[in-house]
Amino acid sequence: MPLWGSAFSKPTAELMKKFNDSMPFDRRWYAEDIRGSLAFARAIRRAGLINDAELKQIEDGLVQVRAEFETGTFDTLPVDEDIHTAVERRLTELAGDAGRKLHTGRSRNDQVATDAHLSMLREVATTRVLLFDLQRVIVEHAEQHLDVIVPGYTHMRRAQPVLWSHYLMSFFWMFQRDRERLDDLAKRTSMSPLGAGALAGNAFGIDPEQLASDLDFLRVYENSIDAVSDRDFVAEFLFDASLLAIHLSRLAEDLIVYSTEEYSWVRIDDAYSTGSSIMPQKKNPDSLELIRGKTGRVVGSLMSMLTILKGTPSSYDKDYQEDKEGMFDTVDTLHMTIPIMSAIIDTLSINPERMAATLDDSLLATDLADYLVRKGLPFRKAHEIVGLMVRDSLEHRRPLRAYSTTEMQTYSPRFTTDVHEVFDFKKSVEWRKSVGGTAPAAVKQQIERAKLCLVSAVG
Ligand code: ARG
Repeated sequence: MPLWGSAFSKPTAELMKKFNDSMPFDRRWYAEDIRGSLAFARAIRRAGLINDAELKQIEDGLVQVRAEFETGTFDTLPVDEDIHTAVERRLTELAGDAGRKLHTGRSRNDQVATDAHLSMLREVATTRVLLFDLQRVIVEHAEQHLDVIVPGYTHMRRAQPVLWSHYLMSFFWMFQRDRERLDDLAKRTSMSPLGAGALAGNAFGIDPEQLASDLDFLRVYENSIDAVSDRDFVAEFLFDASLLAIHLSRLAEDLIVYSTEEYSWVRIDDAYSTGSSIMPQKKNPDSLELIRGKTGRVVGSLMSMLTILKGTPSSYDKDYQEDKEGMFDTVDTLHMTIPIMSAIIDTLSINPERMAATLDDSLLATDLADYLVRKGLPFRKAHEIVGLMVRDSLEHRRPLRAYSTTEMQTYSPRFTTDVHEVFDFKKSVEWRKSVGGTAPAAVKQQIERAKLCLVSAVG
């Protein structure tokens, strides 16, 4: 019989039981469930609901149950509906009546919410450390290649020259925001629902604040109904994870393009590529494609969670059991993809000759217009003049630097011989020395600021 069966006139249908049980997936919360129960046992001792001997029996029993899970010897029985009932059932086998007292004043509603908060805090701490490592690898790579200039793109069209380091560092800041979002989420998740009971609070003088501090939560929920039914932190996590996955996916897409035979800017290490079963020459960027592809399931879990929450009536609803699989899958996905991306960047080789070979004069068209601005022409006028020059250069397949000063003067008398100094990719990036710009000096400053974000993985 399940823990709640006595009021029922017949057993749960086999089909219903399969449909209802969450043990197959929530068993991964055994450590959190037992941690919460150990704290709860002490709380009911403080409230005078059990004596010291019973507390000892419960504690010893829970420690043994945990050992059984850890060593893979825990016997799941058909009656075990979820991790909470499974732990209590086994505890009662071990501790007898003392075990039967553990659930006094507690509901699976505050229990499952407690497990969810505890596990979220643990997983998010790991995600933050993994992100920190990725950011560190990005900074290292950026520092090593500060002298490499590549075409920067907008709309996937050649725009202006930028430092390769500057390009890569743009992702550092996306990951920094991702890490800050997770820090913020952790602060909000550090709120204890234990003691809220089914929805109305507990009637035994069990102190939620003491429970919160025993479980290292920063504070308690101010409202017991909110405590048992808040799954905002799950939705928030899935959003944070989705945005992070999208950042990883965009970086993956870039690196796939930049590693094509057509580009050959970068080479993905053989250890992170795979081959084709038919074409011996193929080295496919499967690692990056999987990072890109897995973004789909992460975003899918966010959509699923938002849909689960929509329209649930106040307080706990069984719908919330559906929060777990998407959350677990997302945690596992992130905890695979972030280190893979770190390893790919750590072992990425770049080909500065190929990068240099892709620089062409059209990337300097803005610099040419800027030149005319410095000679006193309004920018819009300068843009128009250089536009006409670009048109001619495209028609005659002549690079802009091939035009003589006299030829340029037919477009504007303001061109003088010093115009040829514009055709220097290095100078072009050096001009852009504003904070956050691509000038080597600005990028060095940027990297110094980035390093300040990497002082500690926590907090
Ligand atoms: N397995 C359930 C869940 O994940 C545990 C809470 C069940 N509570 C209840 N009142 N049936 O949400």
